Amino acid sequence: MTTSRMAYRLEPLDPANPYLMEIAASLHADAFIHVPDSVWTRDAFTKLMLGGGTIGWLALQDNDPLGILLVRTVLDEAEILTIGVARSAQKKGVASYLMHEGLKVLRSLGIQQVFLEVRRSNLAAQALYRSIHFEEISTRPNYYQNSDGSSEDALIFRLNYC
Ligand SMILES: CC(C)(COP(=O)(O)OP(=O)(O)OC[C@H]1O[C@@H](n2cnc3c(N)ncnc32)[C@H](O)[C@@H]1OP(=O)(O)O)[C@@H](O)C(=O)NCCC(=O)NCCS
Repeated sequence: MTTSRMAYRLEPLDPANPYLMEIAASLHADAFIHVPDSVWTRDAFTKLMLGGGTIGWLALQDNDPLGILLVRTVLDEAEILTIGVARSAQKKGVASYLMHEGLKVLRSLGIQQVFLEVRRSNLAAQALYRSIHFEEISTRPNYYQNSDGSSEDALIFRLNYC
């Protein structure tokens, strides 16, 4: 890691702000460029955030948006919907920063457990989640259906606060 976490700041995402929704979509498209089936448009982000219980943040350095985290909460559980970091900013602690700060907010909201799904091939994301104490709890075979007809397992991870 070459950049201190202290260099980043959090900006809450607001679905009423089209500028922020556009930044969210372009960061996401950049981060997921190698998985085109996972890319979400600005409208998709806006719709998700208007759906209720969804909160999210950008990580910025100075005024540059570097990463995005989107979470859905239901009662005392939360699901990480997506996390992505611009390719030019990866491996500099941005995702760690987003997860630590986001999880702090979730804890303050009374969330007890956090779940997420990750592709079996996504070893970088799995290493990130394990580094912040998520544990792998199950598998959904062939959960991700790709447009080329192939499929991939999802691994389910969970973090318990209690
Ligand atoms: C996964 C992703 C969010 C990590 O973001 P990042 O800002 O580069 O991650 P960080 O620098 O905060 O790294 C935190 C930890 O994650 C792990 N990690 C991150 N990138 C990694 C890589 N390429 N290979 C292996 N481990 C990696 C390491 O454990 C790292 O800790 P360390 O720096 O002490 O070794 C980023 O690679 C990304 O946006 N990928 C594409 C989108 C994606 O796959 N999102 C997750 C979908 S489930």
